[in-house]
Amino acid sequence: MTPKRKIYIETYGCQMNFSDSEIVGSLVLGSGYETTANLGEADVILINTCSIRDHAEKRVRQRLREFSALKKKRPGMIIGVLGCMAERLKDQLLKEEPSVDMIIGPDAYRDIPDLIAAVEGGQKAVNVMLSLEETYADIQPVRLGTNGVTAFLSIMRGCENYCAYCVVPFTRGKERSRDPESILREAGDLFQKGYREVTLLGQNVNSYTWNADDLTVNFARLIARVAGVDPSLRVRFATSHPRDLSDELIRVIASTPNICRSVHLPVQSGSNRILGLMNRKYTREWYMNRIEALRAHIPDCSISTDIIAGFCSETEEDHRETLSLMRWAAFDYTFMFKYSERPGTLAASKLPDDVPDPVKSRRLEEVIQLQQTLSLESNQKDIGKIVEVLAEGRSRRSEHHLFGRSSQNKVVVFPAGDIHPGEYLRVKITACTPATLMGEVLPAERPG
Ligand code: SAH
Ligand code: SF4
Ligand code: F3S
Repeated sequence: MTPKRKIYIETYGCQMNFSDSEIVGSLVLGSGYETTANLGEADVILINTCSIRDHAEKRVRQRLREFSALKKKRPGMIIGVLGCMAERLKDQLLKEEPSVDMIIGPDAYRDIPDLIAAVEGGQKAVNVMLSLEETYADIQPVRLGTNGVTAFLSIMRGCENYCAYCVVPFTRGKERSRDPESILREAGDLFQKGYREVTLLGQNVNSYTWNADDLTVNFARLIARVAGVDPSLRVRFATSHPRDLSDELIRVIASTPNICRSVHLPVQSGSNRILGLMNRKYTREWYMNRIEALRAHIPDCSISTDIIAGFCSETEEDHRETLSLMRWAAFDYTFMFKYSERPGTLAASKLPDDVPDPVKSRRLEEVIQLQQTLSLESNQKDIGKIVEVLAEGRSRRSEHHLFGRSSQNKVVVFPAGDIHPGEYLRVKITACTPATLMGEVLPAERPG
């Protein structure tokens, strides 16, 4: 028997991309390849890429140069670019990066085995067709680099919101939802295998919709059904668009203990003028109303967000409105970015990228500093509380400690004892940093 050829997959970008790489892993296994985590033994390298900011693309280009040097030593090795850069740049990337053999967009992964065969036949291979239907619903992902406890579960693909700064609608195509039965099967299967947490993924999960014979499954109904798989399966989701965060979903979260008390609600800016230019389709007041609704129905809910500093025409006044909204919302966590103009987006064609880079950097730094304070204050409030933690694995800092997360998605570090990943624990919080809670494990509560 000839040994199976080995495919190495490296992933950049968002959780959707990591989830897609697991689908790719499954698709190549089905056709006589095996995956390897060791670059040194790869016959095929697949790099799953991100275009969200210029910096993300630069990192991939740098990595491609390293792969190219490797290929010189090992002729016959095949290099494929997957994901958003493949879709954005198409065959232009073949000209710019001569070591690349294949370009494969996010909806064309079923074609990978055939494209590899074409390259072995001496051609360069490209498939960047976007699809209106593809959801890979029937593919059972292989879990790459898994901890055996938490998994991503993709429920929809694409985005049609066309936020002015964002490249995703162009790289991921039209929005489409996945059959709920296939989602429930995958969640049930993960639970059987010992997983205790799934994160339902989509660019805008609140617009999930599936029309079955006589009823429509919306996101609130879907997540309730996934949570029904088992009370000890935690369910998370990302990402929600503030315009579509419904009262129905808030009620479902509030009444379902195993849906985690943590909502990621990207605001991007606190200024109505900037939100309008960004085409976000909500106002500061609408966003505040959504936060108030969350806090009223789920008082222990943590709220995180995304913020872009230095979007086109942003003034000091706009920037101060972002800072004041952050203080008002008291975000537990924020992903913070400097605006990066992306070719082909609405902003790139209509709005000059006119905030000077040093100003963007300074505003970003102010956002970061404020968030440090808010995160520390949020964590300090947890000292003395008892939280339920799902153990995930060894702490990076100390081999005598494990880490897990609370329902609020906060990282909690505690002494390892004889605890195994996948166990639920009661942890009393004793100390914190802005990023982490530390605590001691309490004995399990006995029923009665
Ligand atoms: N679909 C998700 C987020 C997708 S991208 C949502 O709508 O919330 C993740 C984050 O990257 C965005 O929320 C935004 O804050 C940031 N981002 C997107 N495009 C960007 C750009 N051109 N420059 C800087 N940040 C950007
Ligand atoms: Fe991009 Fe907006 Fe879609 Fe999110 S909702 S992926 S920010 S276009
Ligand atoms: Fe990046 Fe594409 Fe995700 S641009 S953020 S990998 S959808």
